[in-house]
Amino acid sequence: MPRSNYSHRLIEYPDLIFPDDQAFKHRAHWRDFFSSRIGPSFKDQLIFEIGCNDATFLTTIAQKNPTTAFIGLDWKVKAIYDAAPRVADMKLTNVVLLRARAQDIAKIFGAGELDEIWIFHPDPCDREVELQNRLIAEPFLLAAHETLKPNGSVHLKTDHAGYYHSVVGVLSMDLLAQRFDLTIASSNYWHDPTAILPTAHRYFANETTAFERRFMKKRQPIYYVELRTKP
Ligand SMILES: C[S@@+](CC[C@H](N)C(=O)[O-])C[C@H]1O[C@@H](n2cnc3c(N)ncnc32)[C@H](O)[C@@H]1O
Repeated sequence: MPRSNYSHRLIEYPDLIFPDDQAFKHRAHWRDFFSSRIGPSFKDQLIFEIGCNDATFLTTIAQKNPTTAFIGLDWKVKAIYDAAPRVADMKLTNVVLLRARAQDIAKIFGAGELDEIWIFHPDPCDREVELQNRLIAEPFLLAAHETLKPNGSVHLKTDHAGYYHSVVGVLSMDLLAQRFDLTIASSNYWHDPTAILPTAHRYFANETTAFERRFMKKRQPIYYVELRTKP
């Protein structure tokens, strides 16, 4: 991963940011970790947001749900460095930040450890040479499946029609179809009752990310996909 002028500053938050290999050190023990931080009220739920950027979205939700654990990940050092004071100032014991690659998900979490994975507005990688870099492809989804509980879920939002169609398409591949049910696929999330109603109980319901607001302002549709692990 590229270094940054902020790399050495991540150690200013040793209890909050786990950079690089440190992101792997609680693998399969995240529930114990949060149990001791949150205390007996911990609801035993672990939510993982990929591409959390400066964690404005994640901290808004985490503040309203202090007994659920939220782990935000981004590979941009500056984004994670900017996120840390927000988490610290809000005294959110239920949030940690990882400066790591989403592709390393199976090194970060043990088998069946996660309840939900959120991926909101992933980089579209839509130039011909970049298509192979799209995160949501078979290798990542197979690894993500390993880390999810039975009936665990993946939630994706994107403003990019091509990305949405490629995700829906990849789910018909044999290995993925054996592991996941495609439970919701919507090409206009905020105006689609078949997507809004079944997600109304989710922590992210009614909340929008910075990228999402940008595209909603331009009246562009937000695409949404929900996957559930098969029992
Ligand atoms: C387009 S931004 C969206 C940010 C935020 N989720 C939102 O909706 O406003 C994508 C974010 O994902 C991060 N990202 C992209 N690919 C990643 C990867 N493979 N691993 C970790 N972070 C990644 C980028 O650094 C960036 O912060």
